[in-house]
Order: sequence, then structure tokens, then C-alpha cells
Amino acid sequence: MSEKNTFTIFGGTGDLTFRKLIPALYNMEMTGSNTFDTQIVVIGRRDYTSSAYRELARDWVEKFTRLSFREEVYEKIAERILYYRMDFTKEEAYGELNAFYRENGAENHVFYFAVAPRFFPVIVQGLKKVDGARGGKVVLEKPFGENLEAAAALNEKMEAFFSPDHIYRIDHYLGKEMVRNIQTIRFANPIFSNVWDAKHIRCIQISAMEEVGVETRGSYYDHSGALKDMMQNHLFQILSIVAMEQPQSSAVEDMHREQMKVLSALVMPEDISGSMVLGQYGGYREEPSVAPDSDTETYAAVRLLVDNDRWRGMPFYIRTGKKLGEREMQVAVVFKSPSPEVESNILNIRIQPTEGVYLQFNIKRPGETDDIIQAKMDFCQSCSLEHHLNTPEAYERLIGACFRGERSWFSQWDQVGISWRYVDAVKAAYRSSGMPLASYEPGSNGPQEAERLLAIYGDTWFDN
Ligand code: BG6
Repeated sequence: MSEKNTFTIFGGTGDLTFRKLIPALYNMEMTGSNTFDTQIVVIGRRDYTSSAYRELARDWVEKFTRLSFREEVYEKIAERILYYRMDFTKEEAYGELNAFYRENGAENHVFYFAVAPRFFPVIVQGLKKVDGARGGKVVLEKPFGENLEAAAALNEKMEAFFSPDHIYRIDHYLGKEMVRNIQTIRFANPIFSNVWDAKHIRCIQISAMEEVGVETRGSYYDHSGALKDMMQNHLFQILSIVAMEQPQSSAVEDMHREQMKVLSALVMPEDISGSMVLGQYGGYREEPSVAPDSDTETYAAVRLLVDNDRWRGMPFYIRTGKKLGEREMQVAVVFKSPSPEVESNILNIRIQPTEGVYLQFNIKRPGETDDIIQAKMDFCQSCSLEHHLNTPEAYERLIGACFRGERSWFSQWDQVGISWRYVDAVKAAYRSSGMPLASYEPGSNGPQEAERLLAIYGDTWFDN
């Protein structure tokens, strides 16, 4: 039996595998970006044969592929898929898994834990029975723990088995094209890099607005909420890239060091009512698997300060929420204006659904007048078919990066830990402040209180 690189997915019949992982592997085959040449072992509890699983997965790939569906390309993926039925919560089942791996010449393991984090420890325990597993890599889906304490305990278990530089914590926002573009936009353009500080910028706003509600994920979400589900991970990662100093080199350690400096400089708010709004959409408590008296927030807006020489005194406004009027993820940089009569210059990095850059600046109204009006330049990157086809979906990019051993675009434990510490603390402070959850209508822009929060400082949210 020849030896084969082996990519194993725990949670092989789950939504993530069908919607994201298998379509990503297919798209990587289409673009030729998967140079790792693996066999794919899919582990699930259900009773499928490999060929039945391949048929099932075909439908999902057809539905969720970013690129067109081509049968001959799918076949190339399908023939490498082996379905293995097991209850991965049973430690004793791993001896047989090891035998299965041996029969199939499995080596160079990459394990993908597409399961809830409470199962991570039992899988790690089981993998002790698998030859070569300890030297393998592991990809972990979020959420990484439920709070700082749980995350730290989980991390200890993971690092006791896998080498820390073989642990890839997925934050799929780090795989998004425009998130990766932030560094280039900042550092390759002196017109921005020279004014990227509190002296020239009035505020930076990071928004992740979603149209969807909690859908079928009520039981998970109700224990999490917007702060933990979106802010602690995705939005703090983006914040740290927007605010960091230019890394000394492209080495992963240099970028992480700079991101960490930002996260370590976050100031704990003294006045909660002037720093935070948590809200819940009308009808949330009637969602499936949500407690009828739930006080989980489905919306969060936070005013953050970063205490370092570049940013001291300048607010970062971060907001995210579900069941809002429009899906929109963006970073808006609002520059200081030279006088109150003149509008601010605004640089807006549009992350999704449109990918692009918008720039607003002042010009003279044409004709015999000195009036000032705004020129609005809107570069839509994703509108070009060529760019669209060449833009890998986040999971394609991140799986490929893991195979190649590129760790820059994964979250590191120290970042995760420090973000948890901050989010745990502000959530507790909000609770003990006695401030109520603000309610908002589904389909609206979020709670009015979030508008009022910025109004305290004379600011408004930037909406395209
Ligand atoms: C996930 C959250 O991490 O990100 C979800 O758990 C959220 O609640 C999703 O809907 C948003 O991802 P995207 O790529 O659709 O913006």
C-alpha cells in the first residue's frame, strides 16, 4: 500500500462539511490550487458507504460551488473520498480507525475538527491510538471555548498533543479577500499610510451586519450571542489588522506580534453606558431552541479605545448584528475634516457582499460657485468577472494555507485568549451595570440606542 497524505474531517455529515469544506476542495481542484494531493477521510456517525456519500456530496457541491460544476472535476475529488463510520465520542473506536488508516496507507495527517468544541478533547484523547497523529496538523473551527477559562483549558489539552505550530484555528474572516487586502491598502499607499493615525482620523468603524437570524443554530447561539459569536474573533482580528504597526517582515511571527500589541492596548471602558449597546431583535425568543426569556444579545455596538501612540483618544466603533435590513461588512475610516462646514473624507473598505474600496472627498461644485460637494469614487472589485473568478472563497484559501503550512492567516492562542478576556469583561460589566437589552425590529438598522451612542461623541454610523 503506497503512503498517502490524509485529510480527515470529523463531523463529515454536518452542514459545514457539505456547504463549505467539500465545495472548497472541489474549487481547489478546479483552480489547480490544491497541490497537496490527499485522500479525504470523512468521519460521521451515519451509515453511508463511500459511494453513497460521494453521491450525496455531489448535490451539495453543485449547489454551493463558487465555480461552475464539472462532473469530471468532481470525479477527481469523489474518487479520493473515503467515508468512515464511527462514533468519534467513543475512545475505544480509535483502535479500529487506526487499522483503517493503515489499510489505506494514511500518513501526513491533517485533521479537521468540524464539530462543537466540547468534542475536541475526546477526539484528541482517541487520536493517541492513531499512529502518526501526534505529528499531524489540526484545524479547529470556532468557537474556541465559551469563555476565557474554557478556552484556556481547551488550549492546554490541544497543545499537550499537537505541536502548537501545527494547530490551525480557523477564523474564516481572515480568508476573505478584502480582509487580506487591508494591509496592502494601508501600507502600499502613502496617501493612506501617512495619515493613518489619531491625528488625522476622527474614527474608524467596523461593521458586520447580517440579514439572517439564528436560523437552525438557536441552541448554540443562545449560549453565545453577538459579542462572542462575531466580535471576540472575526471583528477583533480585523481591528488588530486595521490598527497594527507595519510588521517588520512577512514572517508570521512579525504580523502576530503587531496584532497582539493592538489587542493588549485595548482599554477597558469605564463608562459602560457611553461605550456599549447590546440589543435583541423582536421575535428572537420565539426562534427554535432559544429560551423564551433569553437575554442573549443578537446585536452589539461597542466604542473601543486603543491606548498607544498611534491611536490614543480616537474611537473605534464596532457593531454587528443579526436580522438587519441589509448584509454589509465594511471598515469605514472617517478622516478629520479641516473645518465644520466641510464633510469628512471617508475611505470605506467593502468586505462583503460587494468587495471593493469607496473613497469620498471634496470638490468644488462645477460652475460659478465655490460650493463644496462630495466626489464619491467606488471601485467594485468583485464586479469584474475576472476578479470574481480569481477570488477564492475563504475556506479554499485557508485549507490550502494549512496544507502548505502557512500560519499567518489563522488565529494564535495568545490573540484568542486576550480577546476572550476583553469580551468576558465587557459582557460582565454590561450585565452588572443593569442596562437593559435594547430591542430592534427585524429588517431595521439595529437599535436606536446604537445611533445615540455615537451621537454622544458627535459621530454617526457610516452606511453606504
Ligand atoms: C460565523 C458566525 O462565524 O460567521 C455566524 O458563527 C455568522 O453567526 C457567520 O453568521 C458570518 O459569516 P459570513 O462569512 O457569512 O459573514
